[in-house]
Amino acid sequence: MQEVIVLDFGGQYNQLIARRVRECGVYCEVKPHTTPLCELREKKPIGIIFTGGPHSVYAPDSPQVDPEIFSLGVPILGICYGCQLLAHYLGGKVVPATDASAREYGKTETHYDTACTLFRGLPESGVSWMSHGDYMEKVPDGFTLTARSDECPNVAIADEKRRFYGVQFHPEVNHTENGCRMIRSFLYDVCGAKGDWTMGDYCKTAIASLREKIGGGKVLLALSGGVDSSVAAALLAEAVGKQLTCVFVDHGLMRKNEGDEVEAAFRKWDLNFVRVDAEERFLSKLAGVTEPERKRKIIGEEFIRVFEDESKKIGAVDYLAQGTIYPDVIESGLGSAATIKSHHNVGGLPDFVDFKEIIEPLRMLFKDEVRNLGRELGLPEYLVSRQPFPGPGLAIRVIGEITRDKLDTLRQADFVFRDELHRQGADSALSQYFAVLTNLRSVGVMGDGRTYDYTLALRAVTTSDFMTADWARIPYEVLDRISVRIVNEVPHINRIVYDITSKPPATIEWE
Ligand code: XMP
Repeated sequence: MQEVIVLDFGGQYNQLIARRVRECGVYCEVKPHTTPLCELREKKPIGIIFTGGPHSVYAPDSPQVDPEIFSLGVPILGICYGCQLLAHYLGGKVVPATDASAREYGKTETHYDTACTLFRGLPESGVSWMSHGDYMEKVPDGFTLTARSDECPNVAIADEKRRFYGVQFHPEVNHTENGCRMIRSFLYDVCGAKGDWTMGDYCKTAIASLREKIGGGKVLLALSGGVDSSVAAALLAEAVGKQLTCVFVDHGLMRKNEGDEVEAAFRKWDLNFVRVDAEERFLSKLAGVTEPERKRKIIGEEFIRVFEDESKKIGAVDYLAQGTIYPDVIESGLGSAATIKSHHNVGGLPDFVDFKEIIEPLRMLFKDEVRNLGRELGLPEYLVSRQPFPGPGLAIRVIGEITRDKLDTLRQADFVFRDELHRQGADSALSQYFAVLTNLRSVGVMGDGRTYDYTLALRAVTTSDFMTADWARIPYEVLDRISVRIVNEVPHINRIVYDITSKPPATIEWE
């Protein structure tokens, strides 16, 4: 399989570049800029992309490259900081843009030379997304200027002979018109990509290599019912069948029918599926607890205890499998420049299970790819396209003390909310949507009688990264239908409110 290397210089869009490349049907990996040249050479990449980064190329501690990289004969696309690196190393000059007009941030009208391979077949002008404080004062030898903006003459450069291209803007973000087509041109017209990254092929190769690695060994996996662990389980089930044991801890804090749906999805495989009904254990530990962080801690610890008890029954295993995915790996730090956060899935291995090695079969896949792999393996759509669901489940959506009755009320109301959104076709535009049972009771009137019952809050957000989110503009008619259905179908709810706060200042979950 052909491979492109995305060399990371600490840019905030490094993952996005890699995703765009894979969306074009070309496999790529993100590597730290400190990766030794011999390692890069061994990979025989068809192309290399330098990411952006927050530094200035001339600053003493700025990330650099081994200049030998320019002698590999491999095409290079430099984006933003990456473009400035090309200029810096190959005889151009990069300077801080003291003149405010040469500093560019945001959407910028840009004019392209469509004779350049990168821009061939595209409109001569369009909006591009800029974010740079430095500027290429002198174009390096052998390069020509291939794009300019109204403020800045040197926006893109190319040396078609050596197949080096640099752009000051970010083609990977949606704000850049035709940005994805530019990346595609680099991959197909410059690097000679064949488009051989397909999920069907990946699936076959992954199964074969898992079989080879695991041999006759035993594998244990904690299945949460979320997309990642479900797809990891399905892949391993396909590869080694009965050698795999999935422990599915049902903590009683799932949504309506969720536990049964997860179990049903795995019936097609002949594997060891252990469903632990631990509702009683979790609810008794949570009795009387109202503080959100305590709830999380109790649930996290109890989860480990239950998994530990089940693992002891199974005995020694050879491999412990985890559903770690590529963003977790990238975010856990490729190099000093890229450390954003340390993800709990990476590095934090449970020490109570007696196993030889850890397996992470989805380690190189993005979320969309994980979903596609799930489809390829025949997992049902409701599992594969599932919205995120927090590990502590409904415990953090029942505000205040948790009881089984409150959980049942919330489960029903949440189901009606989701069901009605689906029926009205309003769910596809939403990133996450759920109901929250508030701790507030208020007076209402039903029939001829007074009621004193709970207020339910509905929450629906749109977001691309869950770090920030906007409240979703669900049409009033749809909200009205949902409200009528919930008060009619779910006892003990007599008032419904819709949450119209974004994140920040609110968070997506209420607790
Ligand atoms: P917040 O509420 O922080 O949520 O805006 C952002 C995303 O994270 C999910 N979330 C959690 N997921 N354990 C999880 O596994 C948790 O304790 C937890 N808290 C929030 C939330 O559903 C949203 O997708």
